[in-house]
Amino acid sequence: MQCGKILALGLAMVLMTCGMAAQASRAEDTIRYRKAVMVMIKWNYEQLSQQAKGSTPFSREEAQRQASWLDALSKSVLEGFPVGSHDGDTKALPAIWSQWPQFKTLTQRMQSDVTKLQELAQKGDVIALKAALNELTRTCKACHDDFKKS
Ligand code: HEC
Repeated sequence: MQCGKILALGLAMVLMTCGMAAQASRAEDTIRYRKAVMVMIKWNYEQLSQQAKGSTPFSREEAQRQASWLDALSKSVLEGFPVGSHDGDTKALPAIWSQWPQFKTLTQRMQSDVTKLQELAQKGDVIALKAALNELTRTCKACHDDFKKS
């Protein structure tokens, strides 16, 4: 084989390897992103729950801030699950992509649960807020049962 050809072949292989590495690191970033979204959801959900239960004093301002974080975060879940992001350090089950409509419906259910939380936080209705948080807990669980490895 001519030197030039060998060089060209070598270069093509290097480029391919780099391309694959870049793709792998994009998938890792995606997985990190969606886990971060979930961690932030959990944080705000717990802060709000503690207030609804009375284990920390209720503050309307705090509750509204947490509910608005939950609103933004619940709208950011879907973009964390692009097709092909099932490999790596993740507990996401392949069912997410084979049953995408169901997965999407659960993210929408979370969004409507959270819209309700926002309204109740604004009103300062702690009792109704507690009930609405129970609804949200059921939505978290429904999705984790079907779409997340335990
Ligand atoms: C629409 C589906 C869905 C809903 C709704 C949902 N989750 Fe998740 N959650 C997942 C999936 C899938 C994973 C696994 C992500 C991964 O490992 O890549 C996950 C992971 C997590 C994790 C682990 C994050 C980590 O660092 O590994 C926490 C904590 C979490 N969810 C909390 C919650 C809470 C709290 C709620 C409800 C307020 C909730 N989730 C609602 C699908 C959902």
